[in-house]
Amino acid sequence: MPRLVLEGAQWGDEGKGKVTDYLAQKADVVVRFQGGNNAGHTIVFNGHKYALKLIPSGIFSPHIKNVLANGMVINVEALLSELATLESQGVKSYQLFISNRAQVLMPYHIDLDGASESVLGDHKIGTTKKGIGPCYQDKYARLGLRIGDLLDEEALKDRLETVLPLKNKELASYGLKTYTYDELFSLCRSWGEKIRKFVTDTSILLNEEIEKDSKMLFEGAQGVMLCIEHGTYPYVTSSSPTASSVALNCGIAPFYVDNVLGIIKAYTTRVGEGPFPSEQLNDIGNLIREKGHEYGTVTKRPRRIGYLDTVVINHAKRVSGIRHLSVMLLDVLTSVPLKICYAYELDGKVINYIPSTLAEYKRVKPLYVEMESWTEDISNVKSFDELPENCKKYLKKIEELTSLPIAMFSVGADRNKTIVLEDLL
Ligand code: GDP
Ligand code: IMO
Ligand code: MG
Repeated sequence: MPRLVLEGAQWGDEGKGKVTDYLAQKADVVVRFQGGNNAGHTIVFNGHKYALKLIPSGIFSPHIKNVLANGMVINVEALLSELATLESQGVKSYQLFISNRAQVLMPYHIDLDGASESVLGDHKIGTTKKGIGPCYQDKYARLGLRIGDLLDEEALKDRLETVLPLKNKELASYGLKTYTYDELFSLCRSWGEKIRKFVTDTSILLNEEIEKDSKMLFEGAQGVMLCIEHGTYPYVTSSSPTASSVALNCGIAPFYVDNVLGIIKAYTTRVGEGPFPSEQLNDIGNLIREKGHEYGTVTKRPRRIGYLDTVVINHAKRVSGIRHLSVMLLDVLTSVPLKICYAYELDGKVINYIPSTLAEYKRVKPLYVEMESWTEDISNVKSFDELPENCKKYLKKIEELTSLPIAMFSVGADRNKTIVLEDLL
């Protein structure tokens, strides 16, 4: 099955970058299909650490075609600076393709993200303030600029003349600085020339790769609980990281998506506001945060920490067809008191689904199964058999509560601290 979706099955930061990089060693194509530089995917190998935001995690292998597909929102300035950083770190030979239909994230999207968050005050989403929501808003309001528009003076002129008066009214309504046509026109033209060599119709490219039976990875950003459709709305991002969105966001047929790997942490984290039933606002949460270095890659905010929640994982499985799991950061749980949330109690009833309203989700009480901890260092194990008994029981319990096989697990940030139980590519 050569086409695999890698999907965060919690609230993001599950270790998608690490898994994508690991599996990319066997892949021909790696595709980012949604989101933008709100994502932060960390990759560690050969003693180097890389933090990718817009660029797919296959960028380190010269033979891999890395694709930014039409469903993405692209801050060109951020993309160019990410490329410059990678080049300064020695990543000089790579293949990058940017969809001519992806949305351009404009400077005013960032201004509007910050302004709307401050007006929301206590009701803020806790966004990354990268302009992601306002950019997707403009896409659906049909007020967006697309990457192809940056390459064509006539198209750019037409789009900016249409869009800018409206955006300036919106900016002024927040008391923000407005933009002149000339400054945005020259900025967009210079972006267009800098990225021209990467821009193409990526739907054509991806369909050609499918014809060739190439091995393809679709690298989700964020996680299912941050999905605009199936997450904890409104405390979500503005796109869908689910496997269902891959086809639309890439311009391929849905039946070409062969398999879905759900990536989970061995516990749960969340950045930003919104309900989180198994959250541990106590010494255990603090212990895990420090052991796991749980601070955001993009915003450096301390991540909120909780016990593993299989209601969340089963929800992710249901809405997007996850067939296997990759369990990350298992090493962090050594010597940590452990529980797994397997269901919720809502108004006296046991439920095993995510309620649709915030009011209900905030009222749920997590029900836990107690697990025994292990104290042995597991960061050097190379197989399931080498794990301490209690750690094996922990993984087996995850399989039992989700009815999903664990195909991989990870015991350290480095690429080589990955144990594969079932080959998926
Ligand atoms: P992503 O957004 O899903 O790609 O995840 P992030 O990169 O934002 O966050 C995951 C963090 O965990 C990164 O700092 C990784 O280097 C780190 N990491 C990944 N797998 C492991 C692991 O098995 N053990 C430990 N200790 N760290 C890991
Ligand atoms: P990766 O790909 C964790 C969260 C933000 C906020 C909400 C909306 O690294 O897993 P946005 O800026 O997207 O409008 O913010 O979504 N968020 C993430 N949390 N990991 C991410 O990406 C995230 N991308 C967005 O913190 O709560
Ligand atoms: Mg991240």
